Order: sequence, then C-alpha cells, then structure tokens
Amino acid sequence: MAFPRHRPRRLRRTPALRALVREVELSPRDLIAPLFVKEGIAEPVEIPSMPGQYQHTLESLRKEAAEIAARGVTAFMLFGVPERKDAEGSEAWNPDGIAQRGLRALREELGDDHVIMADLCLDEYTDHGHCGVLDEEGHVDNDATVERYRRIAVAQAEAGAHMVGPSGMMDGQVAAIRDALDAAGFQRVGIIAYAAKFASAFYGPFREAAECAPRFGDRTGYQMDPPNADEAIREVLADIEEGADIVMVKPALPYLDIIRRAKDETRFPMAAYNVSGEYAMLKAAALNGWLDERKVVLEALTSIRRAGADLILTYHAKDAAAWLAG
Ligand code: PBG
Repeated sequence: MAFPRHRPRRLRRTPALRALVREVELSPRDLIAPLFVKEGIAEPVEIPSMPGQYQHTLESLRKEAAEIAARGVTAFMLFGVPERKDAEGSEAWNPDGIAQRGLRALREELGDDHVIMADLCLDEYTDHGHCGVLDEEGHVDNDATVERYRRIAVAQAEAGAHMVGPSGMMDGQVAAIRDALDAAGFQRVGIIAYAAKFASAFYGPFREAAECAPRFGDRTGYQMDPPNADEAIREVLADIEEGADIVMVKPALPYLDIIRRAKDETRFPMAAYNVSGEYAMLKAAALNGWLDERKVVLEALTSIRRAGADLILTYHAKDAAAWLAG
C-alpha cells in the first residue's frame, strides 16, 4: 500500500513547527477587561457567582485596572452600580454618579495610553431593572429610553470615556448617541456597539454583579431571540450604518457562528463578549478540579478569535494576560 504523500502531522511535530503555521495568536492587546465600580462600599466585594471578580471601590478599581494594565491589557469596560435607583435611572447621567467618578478615576490612573470604555445602559440604574424607561403598560419605551441614552453618552464622554458601549438594544440607539456626542463636541469619542446582543441566560452572574436583574418579566422584548442569525447580521449592519466604530456580538461561545458571519459579511472591527455565565462555567469546573483552567480559558479565547473576533471582552483578561506572558 502506498503511504500518503500529504502528511499534516509533519507540521505538528515540534512546538517550533506548530508555532510557524499557527493561524491565530491570542495577545493581551486583544482583550478588554470588564470592571464593576460600586457606590457606598468601603471594601471591594467579591461576586459569589464570579469568583475572582469584584464590585470595586473607587480605590480598588484604580488598583485592579493598574494591575491588569501592567500585564499588557490596554482596554477596559466600566459598569457602575449606584446606591440610588429610580424609575428612569437618572443616576446614569449624573455627572457625579458612580460610573462617571469611576471613569475619571480610570482616566487619571491610566491616561491616553489605554482605552477606557463605558457601558451605556439603564438596567443598573432603574428600580425595576429594565434597560429603559417603561410606558403605561410596563413595556420598555424605545424612544423615551433613547432620549436618556443621549444624556448618558454625554455624561460619560465628559467624564473621560474614550468610547461608549450602548448595550440596551433599543432601535436607533447608535445614531442617537452619535448625534448627541457630536452636538456636545465629542466627535472624537467612539462607539463600541453591542450590535447583536441575545436574550441569554448566560448573563445570570452579571446581574448579581451589577445588581440589575429585572424585577418583573425579562429582556426578550428588546434583546435578540437566540435562534436568529440573519437578524443578527441585519442588527450589525444597522449599527455600522448608524455610526458604530466597533460592533459586538454577545455572548461569545454559544454564538461563534454569528461572529464568523458578521466578520465575513462586514469586515468591520468586531468584538465578542465572553459573558459572565461563560466565565462562571469554566471557573466552577476549574475550582472543582474538573478542568485545567489555564488550558480551557486560553482554548476558549483562541476559539473566539478564530471565529473572527478581533477583540474579546472577558473576565479572564487578567489571568489570561499573565498566562500569555509566559
Ligand atoms: C446591560 C448589560 C448586561 C451585560 C452587559 N451589559 C446584562 C443584561 O443584558 O442583562 C451582561 C454581561 C455579562 O453577562 O457578562 N447593561
């Protein structure tokens, strides 16, 4: 019998050969670290369903960001958790609100060598936990919500955000925020748009971290239905059309097909959000000794890059950056 001439194993024989033909390489510069800052606490509080992640004080936020930055991660996404919530979420655009104070602290700590992003939404700030203001029937009112998003965008830009990240999935939110930023003189502030964000149960631990679980109902009236891929592409194209600078797919691992299609069909800078539930799964298995944490995390993050994401928002950023450094 003739042996095959084509032998893929030749290129797998040594680490040097494998490195030579590697198609995708993960780097700390591909990672965006999400961070939570909470008002009215004296010490950082660990999030039970996200071991290793904290609700930070302003002081511990600076320290954590500096440590992550020292490992080569250059971008951060900040979430604020206010003490006072109301029906319209007005703390979200308070110039002295916790998110704005956190943004100023990060800018002071890290300056322009880093990219400070602000999650732009209302669910952490409303007393009912929805991502917008409600109409008389208790549904999220799209246009009234977008009016609030404009104010938040300007407050976040004034506080020093390099980019804002609208995550509420309201129709027309990117265009409205772009207009508001431009009108306030913030043409230079960018938009990283949560473009294809699905109504996912993988956000469970985040809602504990950000104290934003809806008091009634769910988010299926504004976030996307998980089976829909064509619609995801339409959402991504719409956000690009409206002025997004980077578009995002979220969650990441259960939606790798969406990331790939969105990248192929747009060739636009693409981010993917490796969300809280994805983090919690690997963390839990690792803490039980069931999986090798370092290996599974790097494999999962690499798969997201391979699917077409240029950037990954991930709670593993701090650990992964250290592992990548060797
Ligand atoms: C909304 C927002 C959520 C996440 C990021 N921005 C929660 C939601 O839509 O319910 C989830 C992130 C994660 O699970 O890690 N402000």
